[in-house]
Amino acid sequence: MNHFGAVKACVFDAYGTLFDLGDLTRAAVPTLGRQRADALNALWRRKQLDYSWLRSLIGRHTDFWHVTGESLDHAMLALDVADPLLRARLMEAWLTPPPFADVVEGLGAVRAAGLRTAILSNGSVAMLTGAVGAAGIQRLLDAVISVEPAGVFKPHPAVYALAVDRLDLPPGEIAFVTANGWDAAGAAAFGFKVAWLNRQGAAPEMLPAGPKAEFRSLAELAPLLRP
Ligand code: LAC
Repeated sequence: MNHFGAVKACVFDAYGTLFDLGDLTRAAVPTLGRQRADALNALWRRKQLDYSWLRSLIGRHTDFWHVTGESLDHAMLALDVADPLLRARLMEAWLTPPPFADVVEGLGAVRAAGLRTAILSNGSVAMLTGAVGAAGIQRLLDAVISVEPAGVFKPHPAVYALAVDRLDLPPGEIAFVTANGWDAAGAAAFGFKVAWLNRQGAAPEMLPAGPKAEFRSLAELAPLLRP
């Protein structure tokens, strides 16, 4: 017996879930060295999320590409890196983040189980089009949904509602897969059946709603969703 009942579609978060952000500052390694390049990457991602939440609270939306640029500007200043050419190369990496090794097979297995598949991401349309195209996974997705029409970022409920509208299914018939614990909480609070892809073995979040299942690799997902 699975925990998901008769779900008809599976919606995926993008960054950190399907696309690997672990080495996005690779272009900085020759000048900064591995340790500082990794520190830049970690601070960049942290601030990117902080700024997405802060802009949502302040009520001053801009798209995720600009949030990504502003958070990079902060991270470069914090680490005392002034190099406009490097900044441009680092931003470009967000257009072609590599997919994790389990993505093609994992998405294929979910579709073979009879479910529709979609991405729902903070990413702008251009960012998501680039990433999905570079990874060659367009054929495995029924929809690629950006938060942009909602004018706010995850975990605002208006974002998760975009998937309900596009797929024309009630929240309880949608499985939501994310590697981000805070996104799992937001999606569960909205009413999705959430599976937390805990790739890093992170501690659970202490938030008011949470996942129905936790797993480590997309290879484990399709069996979880089969009725
Ligand atoms: C996304 C970020 C939150 O893809 O990972 O929406």
